[in-house]
Amino acid sequence: MKSADLVIANCSQLLTCEGRAPKRKEALQEVGLLEKGCIASYKGKIIFVGGEKRLKEEVRLEENGIRIDGTGLVGLPGFVDPHTHLPFAGSREEEFVLRLKGYSYQQLAEKGLGIQTTVKATRQTSKKELLSLCLSRLNRMLLFGTTTAEAKSGYGLNLKDEIKQLETLREADRLHPVDIVPTFMGAHEIPEEYRTRKNDYIKLITQTILPQVKEQKLAEFFDVFCEEGVFSLEETRNLVRTAKKEGFKIKIHADEFSPLGGAQLAAEEEAVSADHLINITEEGIQKLSQSQTAATLLPAVSFFLMLEKKAPARKLIEEGAVVALATDFNPGSSMTESMLLVLQLAVFTMKMSIEEAINATTANAAYALARHEDVGSLEVGKKMDLILWDVPNYPTLVYHLGINPIKHVIKNGKLVVKDGKIL
Ligand code: NIG
Ligand code: FE
Repeated sequence: MKSADLVIANCSQLLTCEGRAPKRKEALQEVGLLEKGCIASYKGKIIFVGGEKRLKEEVRLEENGIRIDGTGLVGLPGFVDPHTHLPFAGSREEEFVLRLKGYSYQQLAEKGLGIQTTVKATRQTSKKELLSLCLSRLNRMLLFGTTTAEAKSGYGLNLKDEIKQLETLREADRLHPVDIVPTFMGAHEIPEEYRTRKNDYIKLITQTILPQVKEQKLAEFFDVFCEEGVFSLEETRNLVRTAKKEGFKIKIHADEFSPLGGAQLAAEEEAVSADHLINITEEGIQKLSQSQTAATLLPAVSFFLMLEKKAPARKLIEEGAVVALATDFNPGSSMTESMLLVLQLAVFTMKMSIEEAINATTANAAYALARHEDVGSLEVGKKMDLILWDVPNYPTLVYHLGINPIKHVIKNGKLVVKDGKIL
């Protein structure tokens, strides 16, 4: 008999998303569906997944343990959100209204709106205020089922404020149940004061900020916005190589608006993920599909910016790429914390199947964060991070739009959302 401190019995459907991550092609269809599924954990780790008969034979609930009746509920691994710009201040609804009047995201960026607006606001905000903003956003993430999230700096763009963002993330990670994976993204934009001296800004990143981030162990990943008017392919390559030498894992904002070849570069440099890919080229699709680099797609961005063009999810899946999904939560191009919305948009706007979208928000999303040994599926030995949805079956998660049918969320074996409320 194994001891458990948490048992969830008889879920109408339990989707384990088990199997070796990363999942490609047909494997993306396999969600590991268990009817009347049971799951148990001890000290935050899963110790049992299976049917009720075996549960009774193999698992004993400790005296003070918690038992949850899963009848009428659908269980899923906690969502992993592998791309967010969490620590920002201010908001950009003015710019949003201008976009509704017909200005494009890039036209507004040229007017000094866009990222620069958020940089000003973030620089002016204290660490304490920034922390409180992060914590309320993390609450919203948790309420929509996210239990692990990547979070980037990139609205400080100088030593003090990049460090401030990353220290805030460290504190938020300590205080909040959602696990945060921090990314240093000083290369998100060129700050106003360096407009005419981009090379000096690149030096500031590589010679001053990066060593400090490393010294204080403030980030695990390094990310670059490889885009026309921001960092060129060559600049991105140099930045990425420097960061790799310093021991950082790599992500690249690749081929979002212009097909610069960021996807190929990500594959060549063995980045953990290439993100966006709305304008990926045929060559990019081929290179990425044959690599170990995840293709992290952000359907909420095309939706939010009202772009006709979407990342070619079907083509990427057919060619064998590791497709993952993320919110890209940020105030300019994707003001949403909800991975449930992203899952729905992947199905409605990118023609992914419901099963593919579920694997892309769990197992493959964990791979896109190099966390697939710990999270992303419900398997013995992994973290007990689980969502219980109040829906009759899993297709209803996509079918019933505009609601949040969350019932409970479990993080590290602890109930953190109960009956739709944060505990
Ligand atoms: O991922 N593309 C660059 N960065 C963000 C947008 C940031 C912003 O507009 O504030 C993105 O879309
Ligand atoms: Fe982004």
